[in-house]
Parts: sequence; structure tokens; C-alpha cells
Amino acid sequence: AIIMSLKLHEELRSLTKELKEHNYRYYILADPIISDQKFDLMLKRLEYLEAQFPQLKDPNSPTEKVGGGITKKFQTIAHESPMLSLGNTYSKSELVDFDNRIQKMIGHSNYTYVAELKFDGLAISLHYRNGRLDKAITRGDGQVGDDVTKNVQTIKSLNHSLEGDFPSKIEIRGEIFMHKMAFERLNLQREGKGQNTFANPRNCAAGTIKMQDSSEVAQRPLDIFLYHLVSPNASSHWEGLNRISAWGLKTSEYAKRCNDINELMDFVNYWENEKQKLSFDIDGIVIKVNEIEIQKQLGYTSKFPRWAISYKFATEQVTTRLKKITYQVGRTGAVTPVANLEVVNLLGTNVKRASLHNEDFISKMDIRENDVVKIEKGGEIIPKVVGVVVEKRSYQDSPPFHFISKCPACFSTLVKRDGEAIHYCENSSCPPQIKGRIAHFASRKALDIEGLGSETIELLVDKKLLFHFKDLYQLSYDQLFDVSKIIVNPDGTEKKISLKEKSVNNLLMGIEKSKEKPFEKVLFGLGIRYVGETVAKKLAKKFKSWESLSNATREDLEQTEEIGTKIAESVFAYFSNQFNIEVLNDLQNAGLNLVFFEEAKVSRILENQKIVVSGVFSHFSRKDIQQTIENHGGILQGSISSKTNLIVGGENMGPAKLAKAKKLNIKIISEKELINMLDG
Ligand code: IVH
Repeated sequence: AIIMSLKLHEELRSLTKELKEHNYRYYILADPIISDQKFDLMLKRLEYLEAQFPQLKDPNSPTEKVGGGITKKFQTIAHESPMLSLGNTYSKSELVDFDNRIQKMIGHSNYTYVAELKFDGLAISLHYRNGRLDKAITRGDGQVGDDVTKNVQTIKSLNHSLEGDFPSKIEIRGEIFMHKMAFERLNLQREGKGQNTFANPRNCAAGTIKMQDSSEVAQRPLDIFLYHLVSPNASSHWEGLNRISAWGLKTSEYAKRCNDINELMDFVNYWENEKQKLSFDIDGIVIKVNEIEIQKQLGYTSKFPRWAISYKFATEQVTTRLKKITYQVGRTGAVTPVANLEVVNLLGTNVKRASLHNEDFISKMDIRENDVVKIEKGGEIIPKVVGVVVEKRSYQDSPPFHFISKCPACFSTLVKRDGEAIHYCENSSCPPQIKGRIAHFASRKALDIEGLGSETIELLVDKKLLFHFKDLYQLSYDQLFDVSKIIVNPDGTEKKISLKEKSVNNLLMGIEKSKEKPFEKVLFGLGIRYVGETVAKKLAKKFKSWESLSNATREDLEQTEEIGTKIAESVFAYFSNQFNIEVLNDLQNAGLNLVFFEEAKVSRILENQKIVVSGVFSHFSRKDIQQTIENHGGILQGSISSKTNLIVGGENMGPAKLAKAKKLNIKIISEKELINMLDG
């Protein structure tokens, strides 16, 4: 018995330590390494052990605290009332218990609920004074948080001034988050610049709000939902939400009043199935007693309100057998391993394949063919393998896995480039690469060639009618008519595809139309590494023609907005290759647009005005304001000089700039004044 309890003592101590570390990772670094569910399980276990051995309990135990902490970089501010977290559960029967508990405590059932989505972001407390946003404070440790007002002011959907009638002093709490699309776009951009990517929108939002440079924050598309009017008190939570939105602040349209536990369950079940359809991540449902009087009667524990609870969705994870690891060659030559699975249902879809990332991932996790693997659906469309159930492995069936050394399509030796985990096939005539490049060129965001889907590409490449983009522009009706091929489907069945009159005409028309597409689309379609849609646009706009782009030095390239060393290097390398120059010459001869056409100006109000933009803006991102100025004929300048006609100043405009403007007697206008000027 003594040995047993010594073991438990040891477990208590190490759990305390571990949980503190996880708290630190979650709240301070915004980079958690375990799931919320795992964390909660560990916390429950610690609570249990502490109850057994109260004398061993750390006074700063993670079970005593809301969690979190504060970062040194910001001024800290004490919350007027503590920012508590919510008790949570993963089980629906505990929701029924919650409802029963409330009835018991207040002795009747004359109360209602509000059910809300549990937004997966970071909590924020907003203070409005006389209708103006005065302070925005993070949760921190629940008692004291960071003053991140400047950063929060950059959130476009958040009004800085309230509408209608309002009391002089208001505190509202809510959640800052990032939409899934915005997150993916940002990660792509970061990848292109060789920066680390964020694991999920929540981490990204939390990391962003802790940045020192608000102008940098302004570039990141954060959003906010407000879900709690703290003061002044309303008579019900629902009324509080209505007041918040009457003041012009954003609440969620999905909050719902529920009369009883059955209606709550319907809400929970509905969102458990439909959450994927939202443009942002939620990790559960929050249930709140609606009547403030009843809330007061129920009160708080040291950590949670007794009148609210969160139901958390379990992460969608299932296990299945990994039948075989195969490989896919992408248009860049990257060879990615793919797990071919015994079909399994995950979130209502049948999953047959999952991503295995690269060789390092497979060897780190020691994934082997025939293993039972855990697969998970994250925010992405393609599910991924996240672990192996080692207990279910029979070793005689499962030798360690070895990555291939030759390309599965063309058998050339694979290469791992410096510092990269990915294997590449460097034979640019490898058929899947050719097909991938053409598919990208023809895709909707590039040249958008109708009639050129993946099957047709497969057919034309295999029939040697198509090697490169330029070949598209040589194709004739006679060459295309009645070309046919038998395709073997993944399930072994066969299908004959052939081009008939209608599809040939359709394709030729699609190809003809692609000649009208603007330069930036062609540039994107070329598939230069790291040149996504946005970068292509920036390059087209700055260099105006492919000739000047191809003559640009690395330094010229790097001086383009949003373009770092890695992109510059890649573009430079592309145009240093004689083959690519010929491709562009051919495309130009075929009649494609390889010159940039300015978008039409919206007005001439600012014609020839030399304008400097400085500070952080609330209605525009910096890019938008610059674009707007250009659209109205203004000429942007990087810094103030005697030639400057006008300065558009936002928050945070530095004192040095102000002094210079004053000395040179240059007019400074606010973004509001600019908007008025352009409207009028
Ligand atoms: S109410 C006392 N409502 O979840 C009331 N919280 O685990 C406390 N959260 O810190 C918060 N969506 O960051 C509330 N609709 C919602 C929420 C929500 C997300 C977050 C919030 C809170 C945490 C509690």
C-alpha cells in the first residue's frame, strides 16, 4: 500500500508540473501540444489525486487557477471582475445533470437558457467609455490581463464608437478569432516567405493579438464575436446580447433561446453535425442560464460560473487499417506518401485515403503498412494520419517502412533538397508533373480553360499531344477529334474516354478564350514556386511585362511588396532558365497577355496628389487604403518630403512624422476625412 501511494504522490507531482507547462504553452506561447480533451482529462485526474492527498497539493496548482498568465511585453491591467473560464464536459448526459443541478439549487424550473457556439479563439474584455473603445484586455490569468487595445483597434469588424443610446461605462466580453479561409491564405503567404506557419486559426489569432507592432496586426484579418455584457447588467443574458448589437457591435447570429433541456440538445446535436459549414472553427457549445436573477442565485465556484457550462465536441478521430502506402507526384515534382485505408466513416464521409506528409513524419511515428492507424479530420479537406495503435501491430506482418528512392512514375532517382523534408523527382518531363502543371495552368484561378479537365489532360498527355502549355495553342480540330483512351479507375473498373465534336469545340473555344486573360493570371498559371495568386498580381503590377520581370535582379524583386528572399530567389531562378524564357516567348507569340493592364481609375479626385499614408487604420487595411488612393488618381510616397501634398494619418502616427509634417506645413487628414472626400 505504501509503494502504491508513493506512486500516486509521484504522479500528482509530475501531473502538476506537466499541466503548468501545458498552461504555459497554451496561454503564453499560444502553441499547445496536446488536445483540450487530453488536458481536461489530466486536470480531472489531478483533481482526484489532490482530493486523496490534500497535503501534497501545490498552492499554485493548475486546478486552482483559470490557467494562463501574462506576457511581459504589454502593460497589465486588473480585470474589474475576474475573467472566468467555463466548466466543461464531453458528455451529453452531464448536460442533463447540469440542468438537474440547477433545478435542485433554485427549487423550481422557471428559467430558460441561451445556447451559443463556442468560438475557438481567445477571450477579450472590451471597455467603452462615453461610447468610445477605451481598453481591450486579454484574459491573462483571469485576474490580470494584457492591454492590447492598439491591436484590437485594427479589427475591421469592431466599431470604435457605439451607436444609439449608451451608458458612459460599459464592459463587454467576447472572442477574437480568424476565419478558416483567412488563416489558410495567411499560412500560404508565410510559407512563400519562408516563415513558420501556424497550426490552426486559434493559434494564429492568439499569436497575432500578442504582437508588438499593430500595423503588422492590421495586416492579419482578425474578427470578433461579443457574447457577454458584463456591465451594466441587463435583466437577461439575451437582452444583454441585443443591447450589444444595438450599439453596433458584432454578436453571433447563431445564439438561440431554449426553453428546456430538449431544445438545448437539439441545438447541440445540430451543430455537432453542421459545424464544418461555418467559416470559422468552433470547439463546442456554451450553455448559459438566461435570467440574470437566477444567475445570481446560482453564483460561482472559485473557477466557474454555476450558471453556464460548455459542451465540447470530441475531436473526430477514428481508427482503421492502413492497407498500403502509395505515392503521388505533384506538379512541382514533390513526391508525397499517401495512406490507402480500409474505408472508414469520418464525420459522415467515407475516407479511403489520408495524408502521410513525408518520410520524416512516417519514420518519426514509425508508421508501417498493415498498421491500425488513427485518422483525424482537422480544418483541412484531406484527413491525416495522426498516430498508430501499436498494440494492434503484428510484427511479422509489419517490417519498418522504407521510403522509395526512385520516382514511381518515371523511375528517376529522388532528391531531397537542403533543409527540406520532401522528396522530389527532378525530371521535368515526368508525366504526372506535366499533367499537374497543365492542370494548374488551366485551373479556374489561372487561365480558366473550359473543357480541359483532368481526364482530358490525362488523355492528351498520354497521347503525346501535350507536353507544355504552349502546345495547347497549336492544337487543331483534326488532331483532337476522336482521340480516345481507356482509363482504369482506382477501383479497378475501366472506362473509355474519347473526344467528340462537342468536347473538341468546347476545348478549342476555352483555349481561345484564355488569350484574353490578364497577365497576372498567366503569371500565376506558370506555376513558379511560391508564386500564388497574390504574389503574381504584385509582380505583374510592379514589373508590367514579362520582359522586365525576366530582367529583374534579385534585389529588384525583393523590393516588391510582400516579396521576401525566398520568392525573389525562386522567380529569379525561373527566369534564369533558358527553357522558361522560350516558353514565355511561345506564349506571347500564341497571343497571350504578357503585359499588365492597369485597372480603370475610379475617379480623379486625388489626381497628381503626392500622398503619404501613416499609422494604423480602422476601416481599411493599409493595403486597401493605398489601393483606394491609387484608384482615385493619387500618387503614393514612402516618406514625407517637401513635395508631399497630403498625409493620411491613422492611429499611432509617430511624433517624428507629425513634427515633420508640421514643419513642412503639409495637411494631415484622418481616414474618415479621406472617405468623406472620396464620397463627395
Ligand atoms: S462565456 C462566464 N460564451 O470559452 C462566462 N465563452 O472555456 C465565460 N468562449 O474563456 C465565457 N465562445 O474564451 C462564453 N459563446 C461563448 C464562448 C466562450 C468561446 C471561450 C471563452 C472562455 C472559454 C471558456
